[in-house]
Amino acid sequence: MGAIFRDVLKKLEACHHGGGLDDVRLDFSTSLNPLGPPPSILESLRSLNNFDLSSYPDTDSSTVCEEIAEHLNLSNDEILLGNGASELLFMIPLISIEAGDIAIIPSPTYGEYSHSVLMMGGEVCRHELKRENNFRMDLDSFKHDIETIKPKLVFLCNPNNPTGEYLGREEVLDILETCRTTDTLLVIDEAYADLSAKKWCSDDLIENGNLIIVRSLTKSFSCAGIRIGYLIATREIVLALKAVKIPWNVNILAQKVAITLTKEIDYLRGGVELVEREKAYLADELKRLSLNPIASDANYILVDLEGRSAASLNEKLLAKGIYLRDCTSFGLPAFVRIGIRNHEDNLRLVEALDESLKEW
Ligand SMILES: Cc1ncc(COP(=O)(O)O)c(C=O)c1O
Repeated sequence: MGAIFRDVLKKLEACHHGGGLDDVRLDFSTSLNPLGPPPSILESLRSLNNFDLSSYPDTDSSTVCEEIAEHLNLSNDEILLGNGASELLFMIPLISIEAGDIAIIPSPTYGEYSHSVLMMGGEVCRHELKRENNFRMDLDSFKHDIETIKPKLVFLCNPNNPTGEYLGREEVLDILETCRTTDTLLVIDEAYADLSAKKWCSDDLIENGNLIIVRSLTKSFSCAGIRIGYLIATREIVLALKAVKIPWNVNILAQKVAITLTKEIDYLRGGVELVEREKAYLADELKRLSLNPIASDANYILVDLEGRSAASLNEKLLAKGIYLRDCTSFGLPAFVRIGIRNHEDNLRLVEALDESLKEW
């Protein structure tokens, strides 16, 4: 049977993700807007009729792109919609990676970047973020790697999942300029940026030409079940991506919801305020329980269990219906990531942690 598979499959196995567990009542393993979905999502789904359901959706999601373009002050053809940010991230190596090409990826970070590169026969060069530096990016050393390796692609998760650092505009510009000198395509994944109090506007940076910015509406508006993401880039890049895109990639439900969400920008403000308040509460409580949270600019907190097993803590919590993100698949088996939820849920987490740690 082996003969029917490509060689690169030897390096690949299914990525680990949260969600889908029956016993979980409170899922802290995903990091979504703690306000939950805005009510307008259900209204827009209710407005669907039989004609909508039996027609193919617009393959280019043109109306959604127009709405987003107007909002961001970009042109329609600088936007591409995806079935979640994930689909878009997997499309990028299709236009850029030939067998043997190198991508630099900070580590730890979101696992799908390396997966998408390896699938195309590319090679991944990890840039280690160091624990002793709280996993903060050392900009000089990162730029040095880019300058010496001259990779085809660089992925930057901003804010970084799972460490929570959000690089500012000057730092990103510095990386972008370095990538320009090495003819490297920089991919910035802003899946969690909307829920950061430090959010800054990066839209104009695509003019540089060697940049793709990917965003996820599923995190910002807590609608992971619907799957909507978009990217912004130059027309040339968007055109290349359209050449490899699966037809009708965004279904009619997701397109309807996306149009509604472009009018819900104010909803994000409430989400960010709640995240900030609850993040401070949880960080204090975690310290009180003698746990070691790492400062985060995002809507999740990475916690260092100092040598103890994340899997065994999760097992104890799961017996109480609570689930955290065991960070083993990030290469951090003694760390958990906690998505910030509302106060009531966070109180229950603290109680459950208190009890579980006593028995641990
Ligand atoms: C950093 C990052 N980017 C992208 C995604 C995928 O987002 P979406 O749900 O829009 O596919 C995730 C999901 O966990 C993520 O953590």
